[in-house]
Amino acid sequence: MSAVRRAGVCGWPVAHSRSPLIHSYWLARYHLEGAYERFAVPPLGFPDFAASIGRDGVVGANVTVPHKEAAYAACERLTDAARATGAVNTLWREDGALWGDNTDVAGFLASLDAEAPGWRERVEDAVVLGAGGVARAIVHGLLSCGVQRVAIVNRTPARAAALAERFGPTTRPAAWDDLPHLLSKASLLANATILGMSGQPPLDVSLAPLRAEAIVVDVVYAPLETPLVEAAWRRGCVAFGGLGMLLRQAAPGFKRWFGKTPEVTPELRALVEADLRAEKGRT
Ligand SMILES: NC(=O)c1ccc[n+]([C@@H]2O[C@H](COP(=O)([O-])OP(=O)(O)OC[C@H]3O[C@@H](n4cnc5c(N)ncnc54)[C@H](OP(=O)(O)O)[C@@H]3O)[C@@H](O)[C@H]2O)c1
Repeated sequence: MSAVRRAGVCGWPVAHSRSPLIHSYWLARYHLEGAYERFAVPPLGFPDFAASIGRDGVVGANVTVPHKEAAYAACERLTDAARATGAVNTLWREDGALWGDNTDVAGFLASLDAEAPGWRERVEDAVVLGAGGVARAIVHGLLSCGVQRVAIVNRTPARAAALAERFGPTTRPAAWDDLPHLLSKASLLANATILGMSGQPPLDVSLAPLRAEAIVVDVVYAPLETPLVEAAWRRGCVAFGGLGMLLRQAAPGFKRWFGKTPEVTPELRALVEADLRAEKGRT
């Protein structure tokens, strides 16, 4: 193993990833000798990439599109979050075995803890929009914190039904038309679709039935303040976008690879916000 610890993000394509910005900030902040790179790995190359972890100084990797399911399959050991969600976004080798975690779960919960303190005591009914990878992480995270009822609403009803089947009787699939009723009872609404993201269609949901005490989370972070978040603020709700989750999902990997629990500082947030704004200016 080379002396410098190397980690990176593995994807195809991988140029758009903000992970190098986040991890390089932490390496510099804590004066750690290490490198965080971009690993451009085509789909058929993933097994070789996974086997290379533990060699040539490579201590692990983040995994992004299209490798999350392949990473899950390649792992010999999985954390509870990875097993429950069926997806892996963080890899490392321990005692010879390839380990995988899905840190979107911890990232989502940590951003709720930071931005809506006390939420664990007050959220009983949640509504999750979406049934993709991030929705799976959110549903698992909410259930692991004791949320009593989670309704899953998705454009493709069969995917919402499959998710509810996976997580059991505290979850249920629901129709888009049920939203007014569901929102009137909900203490948390999470958007885990791509709707509202720059370049995607808007999320067309009226928040009129939502109580002002409800918490609204949008996993979308470009734009930084989505129309959903702005509409929730107008109702007096605590509401926030996905940047906090994006920053916090990076922390568990950094700790494993470089040995230091990193902080999500205002300086880091400002750095990534500036990068997102610069990209908006370019597109
Ligand atoms: N904040 C963070 O840390 C973070 C991390 C990862 C991802 N994200 C964001 O999370 C979002 C979801 O990512 P993902 O990985 O879960 O994606 P995914 O697995 O592809 O799921 C996409 C979801 O969006 C829905 N959707 C797509 N187009 C739609 C449309 N025109 N109308 C209605 N629903 C539509 C899909 O519904 P169907 O099932 O009907 O296709 C599905 O539920 C993205 O915006 C991504 O940028 C945030």
